[in-house]
Amino acid sequence: MSLQNFLSALDSLKSEAISTLDSVKDADAFEAARVKYVGQKKGALRDIQKQMGSVAAEDRKSAGMRLNEVKQAIEAAVNDAQNRLGGGGGSDSDPTFDPTLPGVRPNIGHVHPITQTISHLTEIMGRMGFEAAEGPEVEDPWHNFVALNIPEDHPARDPLDNFYLATAQTGDERRNEEGSRLLRSQTSTVQIRVMENRQPPIRVISLGRVYRPDDPDATHFPMFHQMEGLLVDTHVTMANLKTVLRVFATNYLGGDVEIRFRPSFFPFTEPSVEVDFLWDGQWIEFGGAGMVDPNVFRAVGYDPEEVSGFAFGLGVERLCMRRHGIKDIRDLYSGDMRFLSQF
Ligand code: PHE
Repeated sequence: MSLQNFLSALDSLKSEAISTLDSVKDADAFEAARVKYVGQKKGALRDIQKQMGSVAAEDRKSAGMRLNEVKQAIEAAVNDAQNRLGGGGGSDSDPTFDPTLPGVRPNIGHVHPITQTISHLTEIMGRMGFEAAEGPEVEDPWHNFVALNIPEDHPARDPLDNFYLATAQTGDERRNEEGSRLLRSQTSTVQIRVMENRQPPIRVISLGRVYRPDDPDATHFPMFHQMEGLLVDTHVTMANLKTVLRVFATNYLGGDVEIRFRPSFFPFTEPSVEVDFLWDGQWIEFGGAGMVDPNVFRAVGYDPEEVSGFAFGLGVERLCMRRHGIKDIRDLYSGDMRFLSQF
């Protein structure tokens, strides 16, 4: 075959292939065109490549170059056609698809308001150097009571006020024994766990669930969350405690929040206080606090002559509810999307 003939055969193959591929309307037509032009066995490109053997030797180089150009152009047309049909889901030929109609809005999930509050509190306290610590929700009496200076006959250990777990040989009479377990009633357990594992200085918070057998009403729920704080160092004072809580309250509730301490009692702090924040002209109790009791330091092997510290425990639901104007704690746990999706 002369070079001239070979080149003009290439040209007509190129224009025929491209115009066919450009106008295919569905997957079947595309597949037929693909096989016809670039099929491995009997494709037209393949055929014409074989004919190159009959072109005079000195012309083969230019014949080859042109063949490559044509091959690339046809392959590009194959890709274009494939994208056009595949990418749009056949949209331009599908009469049931109307791109001008509004789409179906996907239902996007989001983080529960209490979880959002926990992240927010963690961030505020993190800026003051408090690191987050965690402890188990199923606790032993040592961490929930004994190490916190809560003696065996203390009313806080009453089975009516705690969720003791029934194990094979654990009855009421055994609840104070080594092997008994309960759902923790306070996050103060984490104070003990942290101090047992580290040396001062310590500056931690712990945010998590606690459990108490309360009947649910607008302000009570048998499961709720607390933010525990613990700072242990040398020469720690109540002024330090009050400052940290004031800075915290100002950050979380906004404005220049006033804070008030009322004398109280907790077995693990001495002195102990109830913490109130002035919110919308009203004093509201957010939790308890105090200076870590020397007996607690002794229980974890610290020397109370050397170190001092403060601890506090605030109600997370209470903070979240105040900030967002939520009136009933049960709304948080009802799973009702009409309520939850507002946050
Ligand atoms: N654990 C106490 C409670 O649940 C709160 C508290 C924590 C008080 C730390 C003092 C210090 O009521």
